[in-house]
Amino acid sequence: MNVHGTGCGILDCIYANEDFSAPPYRAAMSKKPGDGGLTPGQLVFSSALETFMGRPYDEVLASLAGTKLPDTRNLGGPSAVALAHAAQMLAGKTARNGKETFAVRFYGVRGNDATGGAMEQKLVSLPFDNLRLIRKDCPSTRVDVLSDPSYDNGSGERTFVYRRGAPDEFYPEDLDAGFFDAGLIAFGGTALTPHLHDSLTELLKRSRQNGAVTLVNLVYDYRSEIEHPGQKWKLGIKDDAYPHIDLLLADQEEALKTSGKVTAETAAAWFLDQGCGAVGITRGRQPLLLCAAGPERAGGTPGIFTKTELISMPVCEEVNRELAAHPEKRGDTTGCGDNFAGMVIAELAEVIAGTTGRPAGIDLREICIPAVAAGGFACFIVGGTYYEKEAGEKRRLLEPYIRAYRKQLG
Ligand SMILES: Nc1ncnc2c1ncn2[C@@H]1O[C@H](COP(=O)(O)OP(=O)(O)OP(=O)(O)O)[C@@H](O)[C@H]1O
Ligand SMILES: [Mg+2]
Repeated sequence: MNVHGTGCGILDCIYANEDFSAPPYRAAMSKKPGDGGLTPGQLVFSSALETFMGRPYDEVLASLAGTKLPDTRNLGGPSAVALAHAAQMLAGKTARNGKETFAVRFYGVRGNDATGGAMEQKLVSLPFDNLRLIRKDCPSTRVDVLSDPSYDNGSGERTFVYRRGAPDEFYPEDLDAGFFDAGLIAFGGTALTPHLHDSLTELLKRSRQNGAVTLVNLVYDYRSEIEHPGQKWKLGIKDDAYPHIDLLLADQEEALKTSGKVTAETAAAWFLDQGCGAVGITRGRQPLLLCAAGPERAGGTPGIFTKTELISMPVCEEVNRELAAHPEKRGDTTGCGDNFAGMVIAELAEVIAGTTGRPAGIDLREICIPAVAAGGFACFIVGGTYYEKEAGEKRRLLEPYIRAYRKQLG
C-alpha cells in the first residue's frame, strides 16, 4: 500500500551553546511584540529580523553565533518528520492481510544550495521508497535553532529564526498524478507551504476521489498571524477543507486558532461540526483529546472511525520516569507532535491495508495508543528525527514504551 505525504520539510540547524545574555544577543532581542527581534521560545522570520536589525540576516547570524557551523543539522517540518517516522515503522512490514507491503513517500521541495543538499542527504538516509524532492531555483528553507542551555536559571530555552525559501515555491501542480495514487495521504504543516495550504480543499478532494483516507496535521500558521493578526486561521482559502479530512491532528494552540474557539473541547466539537471525520488535539504533557464523528459525519462521506465521544488520554508516564532517572537521556520536545502524527499514519496504514472500498469501524483510541508512546519517545531525541543504525531499530526501542503505556491505561 502506498502512503503518501506532502507539506513542510525543512532543515533545522541547531546551535547548542549560545548565551542570550551576551551583548550581540541582547541587541537582537525583541523590545516589543511583533517588532521582528528574537524572543526566547518563539520563532521569527529572518526577513523580520533583518528589518529589526537593519542588516542582512547572514551578518546578524554571524554576530550571534560567530562563523562556526551548527552543532547539529536535523530534518524538520511536520510532514517530513511524521513521514520519516511512519517509514521507519512500516519498513519491511507486511500488512495484516499477510500480502501487502508498504511504500512510504514524502513529496517535498529543496532549494539549489548547500542547505538543500544537507536536507536531501538526511532524507536519503531514511527508509522512504524513492525520494520525491523537487529542486527549486531558490534558497532552501532553514530554521536556525539558537539554544541557550543556561537561560532562565539553567532551565534552558531556544529561539528560532525561519529563513523562507523553496516551500514558498511549492505549487499544487508540482504534485503529479502518482501522488494521488495512495491508500493514505497525509498533509503536514502546509501552513508553511502557502500554495499547498491555499489549495488544501482541492488537494484533499482529489485524494478522496482517488479512494485515499486523508489525514492533516497542522503547524503554527505564521503567515496568517502576520497578515491577519489575531484572526482565525483557515484550512483552504475558503476555510472549507474540513469535510474532506478523515483525521485532523493539531496541538492545542493550533486547534484553538484554527477553530476560533477558546477551549480544546469546543474546538474539537467545532471541527466535527465542520465535517472532519475525527480529531486529535495534543497538549504537550497534558492529556490529549480525541473524538470521532462515526460513520454518519457532517462531511457526507462515511467516517472511517467508530463514533467516539470526546475522550482524553494521558501521556506515557514511562517516558517521564525514564527521563527523571536518566537526565542524560533527555533530548528536547521538538517533534513530539510530528512523531505522534507519524505513528498515527503508520498505525492507520496497517489497519486499512488490504481493505477493499472505504475502510470503516476503526477504533481511534487504539490507533493513538502507540502514537502517544511515540510522541513521548521524541523527548529522548534532539530534534524530531531519529536516524536508525539498522532497519527496525526505532520500532524495537519504542516497543517497551508502548507496552508500558498499555499497562498504564489498564
Ligand atoms: N513531556 C512529555 N512527556 C511525555 N509525552 C509527551 C511530552 N511532550 C509531548 N508528549 C507526547 O507527544 C504528544 C504531542 O506533543 P505536543 O502536544 O507537545 O506536540 P506539538 O506541540 O505539535 O510538538 P511539535 O510541533 O514540536 O512536534 C503529546 O500528546 C504526548 O503524547
Ligand atoms: Mg506540532
